[in-house]
Amino acid sequence: MATRIIPYWIVPVTLVHLPEIVALEQRIAAYPWQYALFQDELRAEWRQRSLHRVLLAPPDDRVVGFVFCRALVDNEWSLLNIGIVSELRGCGWGERLLRLVMRHSAKCEDATWLLEVAVTNRAARRLYEKCGLSVIGVRRGYYVSAAGHEDALVMQCLVRGNNP
Ligand SMILES: CC(C)(COP(=O)(O)OP(=O)(O)OC[C@H]1O[C@@H](n2cnc3c(N)ncnc32)[C@H](O)[C@@H]1OP(=O)(O)O)[C@@H](O)C(=O)NCCC(=O)NCCS
Repeated sequence: MATRIIPYWIVPVTLVHLPEIVALEQRIAAYPWQYALFQDELRAEWRQRSLHRVLLAPPDDRVVGFVFCRALVDNEWSLLNIGIVSELRGCGWGERLLRLVMRHSAKCEDATWLLEVAVTNRAARRLYEKCGLSVIGVRRGYYVSAAGHEDALVMQCLVRGNNP
């Protein structure tokens, strides 16, 4: 199902979007995912347990943002990756994407959300706080890059479902 936020679209990710998503990821991420990792997330057996969305901009539906999320067990969701092109940052698109998938995850029952974020990623931390997540722990040296190791904060929240 597609969501129209004039004049942008948020639609489920398909293989067609992957080359542009990977190119965007390479430009914006401190620890970029490679193509194979994104492709793996689109595996058919995970389709029912995934909420992967892409933000498309007019006039030619170019990819300007994405979010990848998956339920690891039961209704416990993990935010795996999110990105917005630099020119659109701070306009609330990250928040719209994240709130959309969080709402969707709790359509029927309560959902738990869990994620890791690099301690130095202040924009992402702020985004997650805005969406209701709070810090519950630290994973030492969680991120590994050529430059060394970096700690991750673990953030969590409960999204109430529409159950009576
Ligand atoms: C994290 C990211 C997705 C946020 O997207 P966005 O569309 O800019 O998000 P929003 O506009 O909804 O909100 C961003 C919030 O962070 C704040 N922010 C932006 N830069 C910041 C900084 N350097 N320090 C602190 N807060 C910052 C914004 O002011 C805004 O908060 P506010 O509404 O209270 O003012 C985007 O910055 C991004 O793509 N970063 C690179 C990829 C990345 O780091 N992904 C997360 C991996 S875990």
